[in-house]
Amino acid sequence: VRITDLETPFVAIERRRVLNNIDRMQAAAAAAGRTLRPHAKTHKSPLIARWQITRGAIGVCCAKLGEAEVFAEAGVADIRLPYPLQPSNAGRLTALMDKARVSFIVDHPAVARGWSDAMVRAGRSVEVLVKVDVGFHRCGVDAEDPGAVEFIRSVAESPGLKLAGLLSHAGHSYGAASEEALAQTACDEASTLLGLADRCRTAGVEIPEISVGTTPNARFSVRHRGVTEMRPGAYVYGDRTQVGLGAAALDDCALTVIATVVSRPAPDRVILDCGSKTLSSDAARGFRAAPGYGAIFRDLEATDLDSSLTIERLSEEHATVRATGPCSLRPGERVRVLPNHCCVVSNLVDEVHLVDGLEVLQAMPVAARGRIT
Ligand SMILES: Cc1ncc(COP(=O)(O)O)c(C=O)c1O
Repeated sequence: VRITDLETPFVAIERRRVLNNIDRMQAAAAAAGRTLRPHAKTHKSPLIARWQITRGAIGVCCAKLGEAEVFAEAGVADIRLPYPLQPSNAGRLTALMDKARVSFIVDHPAVARGWSDAMVRAGRSVEVLVKVDVGFHRCGVDAEDPGAVEFIRSVAESPGLKLAGLLSHAGHSYGAASEEALAQTACDEASTLLGLADRCRTAGVEIPEISVGTTPNARFSVRHRGVTEMRPGAYVYGDRTQVGLGAAALDDCALTVIATVVSRPAPDRVILDCGSKTLSSDAARGFRAAPGYGAIFRDLEATDLDSSLTIERLSEEHATVRATGPCSLRPGERVRVLPNHCCVVSNLVDEVHLVDGLEVLQAMPVAARGRIT
């Protein structure tokens, strides 16, 4: 089967590039003495998780229990949820713990207490990491808060919890305006975590693991001694944002959306059949502005993006493309779109197609997609 035989829009995943991306990140983590625990949010696929684990990853991360349940069922033995799970989910968590080693994050005293109580009631204990805010200002304890060490001690001493370490997600790295600024976010992340870990150790609290995550930061995080684990996710596919942040080359990007021109209402306007239901409406980030909802390869074999085509607007089923130069695209012709953010695209489709160039190798279900609880 050729990619011209499939109905559009569909998501193509270049198998060789995925394997190269996995090997490159694994080699970088191993050379720095880090464990690699990829975030499975990007692919939501047990098959790709297996590729990552057989090449050296220690396990995977999931955000939600529903995703973790899919991976545990598929035989993934070690799953970390860097997400503030709530004790009301204790029943699902203990069932998951019967299938895999499981750990998750806590950052709030009442939630930590609730989990400890629930685990004691169930006659078990669960590994947790304390989430530390390193500048993204989403979840996490403030490392400068005088109560931070006491909170971490209370977690370590909770009968139903086993403190595995500290964990952060420097999501603000996506807003970095330069390579130097990006490097600085990784540096600040490591020094915040290592400083807090030192204060804990001085207070007699053991901190076995220091876990950091994000794809843009990964190439800088490997430099910081003391970090023990990396959890990048998007590296496995790559996207326009990762290219914009220097974390992937265009030729590393494995996920593209194949779309068909369905109308040419004006010389400067091209309509594609992929809308927000395929590309999502996420904007691209990067050191330089990258307007539009994805970048276009003019035909299926093009190796360079066509900068004269901008996806200006998305409706659910249409992409409205503005052509700023001469454009011969006709209805029925196919283009390839590099999405702004690969992880959200995975979540939009039931299956993707693994390809080798123009040849379709197999359909691959996105088994953990839509698991929002
Ligand atoms: C907690 C956490 N860890 C790791 C990652 C992976 O980061 P990236 O998407 O930059 O690869 C994410 C992504 O959202 C995350 O939320």
